[in-house]
Amino acid sequence: MHNAISVAKDTWWVGVNDHETDLFESLWDLPQGVSYNAYVVVGEKTVAIDTVKGPWFGEYLYKLESVLKGRSLDYLVVNHMEPDHSGLVSQLRLRYPDVTLIGNVKTLPMLKGYYGIETNTLEVKDGQTLDIGGHVLQFATIPMVHWPESMVTFDTTTGVLFSNDAFGGYGVHEGNLFDDTRAKSRWMGEMQRYYATIVGRYSNVVQSALKKLGGLDINCIYPSHGTLFRRDVQQVIDLYDRWSRCEAECGAVVIYGSMYGNTKRMAEAVCTGLSDGGVQNIHLYDSARAGFSFIVSDVWRYSGLILLSCTYNTLLFPPMESICSKLLNRMPKNRFLGIAGSYSWSRGALDALRDFAEKSKFERVGPEVEVFASPTEADLNQCMELGGNMARRIGACPVTLPHQ
Ligand code: FEO
Repeated sequence: MHNAISVAKDTWWVGVNDHETDLFESLWDLPQGVSYNAYVVVGEKTVAIDTVKGPWFGEYLYKLESVLKGRSLDYLVVNHMEPDHSGLVSQLRLRYPDVTLIGNVKTLPMLKGYYGIETNTLEVKDGQTLDIGGHVLQFATIPMVHWPESMVTFDTTTGVLFSNDAFGGYGVHEGNLFDDTRAKSRWMGEMQRYYATIVGRYSNVVQSALKKLGGLDINCIYPSHGTLFRRDVQQVIDLYDRWSRCEAECGAVVIYGSMYGNTKRMAEAVCTGLSDGGVQNIHLYDSARAGFSFIVSDVWRYSGLILLSCTYNTLLFPPMESICSKLLNRMPKNRFLGIAGSYSWSRGALDALRDFAEKSKFERVGPEVEVFASPTEADLNQCMELGGNMARRIGACPVTLPHQ
């Protein structure tokens, strides 16, 4: 999208679409790219809300200047210091030497650390307002959503909440910025995957942030990534409330690590047990091939998780080891867990999965299955039993979320 786009009275989107980056934070798959949403509010004073990632200076500046029409930039609000949003702070200061950078007490040391900036800054406190003539902006900190200095800016005049990473999603804009111009199926999954990979770890503070923002009269939520919400703001607030309370849909994620197909057969038997038990949302992942962001997104989404791994050099199969470690870092709460391992010349996998189970604090579903070499008929029946037992637990899951 090559032009600045009007998104509210005196307010423009001046962000960019990134199709080139393969991995967000060098970790998370971007099959549909990602947008960096930046904004400008023009009153008697001019205010930029965040910038974009470094390589897009030319495109960002073209859009910004098309809005400013020769006026100078008075303020730059730094809602978040992560470089996908603060990446052009130094360049903007070179272009507009008198611009004042607005941040909170935790922003300013980061401005110095990242960019050596110590002058022309304005520290704002939680709830503080700034009258720019025609618009009054209010600032609210939302620490750890998703960095300690994260804050949002609320335009009390238009009711637009510039929400920073909160309510953000992966995926570029495809000619349509808003929730009322874009099919829900085009933004919902990528918004959930963004939540699971970026924000979810801090769900307890998301709850605090929602309470704080609940006092604002919000008309629109414009995040720093993904779709801009103006049709049904309450819908996305409700989604964030559910996700941050770790509510799950009824379904199961089955992840396996298999070198020669034996553990894969066990996983497929588990899936058969799940399906025979009436579970319709079953997601089977090969740990060596699936992108972790899709796995963690589904683990966040569904109530059941079953892990199966062969033993590799007396330990977990390395891709399973990596997934378990990452899951512990991103872990939702209140899930059901089943585990199974296989071995040949040395045991090890099942013990490691027991260790994961203990650390995760998930509610266990049995039986534990351990298979020597290739699974026998009896072994596969045990795997089906595990799937069937999980189906019964998932069936008891009290929450089913409407989705897509
Ligand atoms: Fe989109 Fe936490 O930066």
